[in-house]
Amino acid sequence: MASLSGEVGGIQMANPVLLAAGILGTTGASLKRAARAGAGGVVTKSVGSIPRDGHRGPTVVQVEGGLLNAMGLPNPSYTNFQEEIDIGREGGAPVVASIFGSGPQEFEEVAEGLDADGFELNLSCPHAERYGAEIGCEACKVEAITRAVKGSVSVPVWVKLTPNVADVIGLGLAAQRGGADAVVAINTLKAMAIDVESGRPILGNRFGGLSGPAIKPVAMRCVFDLASALEIPVIGVGGVASWQDAAEMIMAGAAGVQVGTALGRAEGYGIFRSISEGLSNYLDRKGMALAELKGLARRFS
Ligand SMILES: Cc1cc2nc3c(=O)[nH]c(=O)nc-3n(C[C@H](O)[C@H](O)[C@H](O)COP(=O)(O)O)c2cc1C
Repeated sequence: MASLSGEVGGIQMANPVLLAAGILGTTGASLKRAARAGAGGVVTKSVGSIPRDGHRGPTVVQVEGGLLNAMGLPNPSYTNFQEEIDIGREGGAPVVASIFGSGPQEFEEVAEGLDADGFELNLSCPHAERYGAEIGCEACKVEAITRAVKGSVSVPVWVKLTPNVADVIGLGLAAQRGGADAVVAINTLKAMAIDVESGRPILGNRFGGLSGPAIKPVAMRCVFDLASALEIPVIGVGGVASWQDAAEMIMAGAAGVQVGTALGRAEGYGIFRSISEGLSNYLDRKGMALAELKGLARRFS
């Protein structure tokens, strides 16, 4: 069987298939379960400096091609989250803490308050006032926040980017200048749905983020562009639901892939193993190593 182990964004992993932030990663038990089910690494739900309830419901709605969510970053705050990370680590895979804040100081406070194998900076949630994409669409803020967190922790720092901008490469370069070990692309696409009978926006917050198969081609293009322009690794996320999707993302230049919405499918946590096994069999069939697959599509540009 072809080996899938290696470094993903500065962290050693048994395979490059990770649990994405916010999907089942709210408790240590679910992080541990994803790791035991074969995820190479797990990313937690985003946590901030103070407890938040999130937006009023409905917070998630199924639409054609995926999910629309406006959770509003509900979380118990970093002061109540270390235990979940510790339980998650019992699964045997690295645990990356997804964190958010409104500026460099708040990000720093949260990062310094947690012990994790890496940090993923949520600079991309499309539906939370003062947080996420509201600050993550400005390159100078991305750079300053990345630099602040990098200066305060000794583990790898990943920066999760928003696709809701004209120039995703500019944001990636800003993260790189700030010292990021990797960028993660993409968070959800800002979107909405309306109930035709009442005329009301369906989500409690009116707007939310679209995820799932519908956004895969957007994610693919962002990964391709970022991998072509940056020196640091790119971790791909958006619509990955099969080993073929993962292979495509790696061919676009991704060093690893994250799986989110697809966990809602019938196979559940089994998706981690089926993607890894599918990738491994594919590499055997092609007589290739994983490193040879990475960025393959960029040869044709
Ligand atoms: C219900 C839900 C909650 C999410 N929560 C977070 C979060 O807390 N932090 C974050 O950075 N991304 C969050 N995301 C975005 C995912 O991590 C991922 O970037 C996005 O859904 C695209 O991947 P997918 O198509 O595989 O789901 C969330 C997505 C969904 C559907």
